[in-house]
Amino acid sequence: MNSYTETAQYIARRIADAAMATPTTAVILGSGLGKLGDLIANPLVIPYSDIPHFKTSTAVGHKGNLIVGTLGGKPILAMQGRFHYYEGYTMQEVTFPVRVFATLGIRTLIVSNAAGAVNPDYRVGDLMVITDHINFMPNPLVGPNLDDFGPRFPDMTDTYSPRLRALADSCAANLGIALQPGVYVAGTGPSYETPAEYRFYRTIGGDACGMSTVPEVIVARHSGLEVFGISVITNQSNDLKDGTVNDADDVVRQADNAAARMTALIEQMIKAI
Ligand code: HPA
Repeated sequence: MNSYTETAQYIARRIADAAMATPTTAVILGSGLGKLGDLIANPLVIPYSDIPHFKTSTAVGHKGNLIVGTLGGKPILAMQGRFHYYEGYTMQEVTFPVRVFATLGIRTLIVSNAAGAVNPDYRVGDLMVITDHINFMPNPLVGPNLDDFGPRFPDMTDTYSPRLRALADSCAANLGIALQPGVYVAGTGPSYETPAEYRFYRTIGGDACGMSTVPEVIVARHSGLEVFGISVITNQSNDLKDGTVNDADDVVRQADNAAARMTALIEQMIKAI
């Protein structure tokens, strides 16, 4: 048995033992956004350290729990904290949970992150719905193709589901929440961008940038999952502001401020999915 199946079977057993419904939607909660996990009703909380083959998350603002329960009355599985490439994990380790989710029968993946504004019109606290991405990280599909999951050369048109983006727009309108559509640029980190790099990202069509999400999204699309991505804008790019520098604690604080709006949006969406 491969490690994906072994881990999926462990999680499936824990869900069955708790007499819970098996979710078909999973959420990955990024920096400072783990709060949504606390709103999950009747939660079964499984620390990553209990899960076979799972790594532990070392990043600030990441708790390291897998939570199964209901949100908006619908079964859901949430990762409270993700694995980043900058922590030293391989791309296979970073994306391992997504393949476990696919094995478990998850059909929809919602990914969230904290991101820096590249678009000069964005303000700290804005929510950006990811419409597309530009990837400067190593591609997690490099290596022998895992045919059981998907094809050698997966298509990346409509990577971020137009159906779920339209659903987000209608849920946001109902809730009176403003959303910005935009392109997410992914770099490895852990250093923040130089002013020249922020300018470069803007020139090539980026709206926000960060150090996560794209590896999980590529692997999710390879496995045929439907994907929705959302970024909380936690800082402006340093080429557009005077004198202030990027600070990781401030990024987590700003993400925390926007968490309530993001959570309300995701809850409404999950009700409708
Ligand atoms: N750059 C990269 N990653 C980030 C940023 C940023 O400005 N803000 C939050 N995550």
